[in-house]
Amino acid sequence: MNEIRIAPSILAWNLGNLGEAVRISVEGGADQVHLDVIDGHFAPNITFGPGTVKALRPLCDLKFDTHLMIENPMQYAEKFLEAGSDLLTCHAEVLDGRSFDQLYGVVNGRKKELGLALKPGTPLPTWAESRLDKISTLLVMTVNPGFSGQTMDMSVMPKLKEVSSLVSARGLGTDIEVDGGVEPDNVHRVVKCGGNVLVAGAGVYSKRDPVKAISALREKAEKAKLG
Ligand code: DX5
Ligand code: ZN
Repeated sequence: MNEIRIAPSILAWNLGNLGEAVRISVEGGADQVHLDVIDGHFAPNITFGPGTVKALRPLCDLKFDTHLMIENPMQYAEKFLEAGSDLLTCHAEVLDGRSFDQLYGVVNGRKKELGLALKPGTPLPTWAESRLDKISTLLVMTVNPGFSGQTMDMSVMPKLKEVSSLVSARGLGTDIEVDGGVEPDNVHRVVKCGGNVLVAGAGVYSKRDPVKAISALREKAEKAKLG
């Protein structure tokens, strides 16, 4: 399993002050900042676009983990990369082998990383299985995309185990990111099932002390990895 990485999702903070959310991530020692881009078509919410990513970019050196919950990732990929995204994670539900290859060309051409996300009910498609070596991060959603603060859907755990076993069996270094309802009381289970990148929106930003919440999550995750 890859190293544990904590990825606070700034969607859970006051959207009028995302700079502060980024500063909290830095202060808490987060490994990457999770940026949820939603277009109102792929999921029932509208968040922010490349302009916001660009405005936040000078605030830190942390990896910008951009989760594109949008219908047409190809149309915007270049714009997010130009704005400063390091990892672009696109959804399997709007891709096929051909469009994935196109996206990979764009992202890899800029020496950035491409991730693939799965909604709770979506299995890993065959076209993706045969392209696993091109996917730097497999993002397993444990809530339906749209909003922060939902409860984790535990029925996704078998799929999480399956994809993480597949990655290990192939000897790949793919990160397994878990997104949706990650909290101190379920992080142990998530890591045991193979998750190493832990997205937390409410699990960080709704806590009384969000800075401390980041290290608290990390401690629990590291313990689960060792134990
Ligand atoms: C949901 C987003 C998640 C969400 C996480 O559409 O992809 O990243 O903001 O927030 P919590 O951890 O509160 O579920
Ligand atoms: Zn997300």
